[in-house]
Amino acid sequence: MSLVPVIARLEEKRALDPNHSLFRFIFEEEHARDKFHFQPGQFVMLSIFGVGEAPISITSGPDEKGFIDLCVRKAGRVTTALYSLEANSKVGIRGPFGNGYPVDTMKGGNLLIVAGGLGIAPLRSLIRYVLWRRGSFKEVGIVYGTKNPASLLFGEEMRELVTRADIKCMLTVDSAQDDGSWKGHVGSVTGLIDMTGMPLVDTSVAVCGPPGFYKYVLEKLLMLGCSKGKIYMSLERRMECGEGKCGHCVIGHKYTCIDGPIFTYWDAINLPEIF
Ligand SMILES: Cc1cc2nc3c(=O)[nH]c(=O)nc-3n(C[C@H](O)[C@H](O)[C@H](O)COP(=O)(O)OP(=O)(O)OC[C@H]3O[C@@H](n4cnc5c(N)ncnc54)[C@H](O)[C@@H]3O)c2cc1C
Ligand code: FES
Repeated sequence: MSLVPVIARLEEKRALDPNHSLFRFIFEEEHARDKFHFQPGQFVMLSIFGVGEAPISITSGPDEKGFIDLCVRKAGRVTTALYSLEANSKVGIRGPFGNGYPVDTMKGGNLLIVAGGLGIAPLRSLIRYVLWRRGSFKEVGIVYGTKNPASLLFGEEMRELVTRADIKCMLTVDSAQDDGSWKGHVGSVTGLIDMTGMPLVDTSVAVCGPPGFYKYVLEKLLMLGCSKGKIYMSLERRMECGEGKCGHCVIGHKYTCIDGPIFTYWDAINLPEIF
């Protein structure tokens, strides 16, 4: 980890929907490529030179070598500047930062992944990690919800997961046109959690979504008997350094950038002003 960014080249950008694009970066120097290892759920600080830096989750899997993929919503200064870059433009990347999902603890048990909207970004990395070593997990469920079919990120990939026999993946939207083109569910993510049929009492659950999403999902998970210590949520705070030095991301006695961004529900409820 360092406060000095490593130079990376924008290899490819692909629009996922009108508000989100996937950006693939390749580190310029070979030793930086070889050295860059990460866990699902970790993030990088992305710099657009002359504009600034923003924390962004890594959405590619840790087993995919030679590049990293970031799924980015155009939100403000840095992300808007990112969208205006042409292929082969240079950016700076620091990291990886944060704790990531506790994959070694999750292994050997059931895993349920619950995503809303852009929350799929860090969870896609976890999904890729799990599929790479599917035999290390028991039952695996994925529930992903968006506003409408057009805002389903990684649509083709997600629909392919629905067809797999070794995982239970379900997609839902808040609303869909009545023309029969949407084959998934319509309704809330919470409704689908029951339908996974997984024994949630002893299941690790990774949840990521917009702020309003957590309240209902967490209520549902607790009602179904999930353990507070086995629900893993990703918290977002303003970040500057990404490595525990500036204090911008502090909540209570925790630094979101180094103690998080992944917290168990148990840890999160003991932090001030979270809910
Ligand atoms: C650990 C972590 C991982 C993230 N992963 C992703 C990702 O994978 N993809 C992605 O698109 N975004 C992600 N974000 C959010 C992203 O960092 C912010 O949207 C960031 O502000 C974008 O920078 P900007 O300069 O474009 O926007 P800014 O000009 O900084 O601000 C845009 C707007 O967002 C608000 N804002 C800024 N930061 C936050 C925050 N952390 N929480 C809530 N509101 C905020 C500002 O007040 C402003 O209204 C992540 C954030 C964190 C902390
Ligand atoms: S971002 Fe600086 S301490 Fe966390």
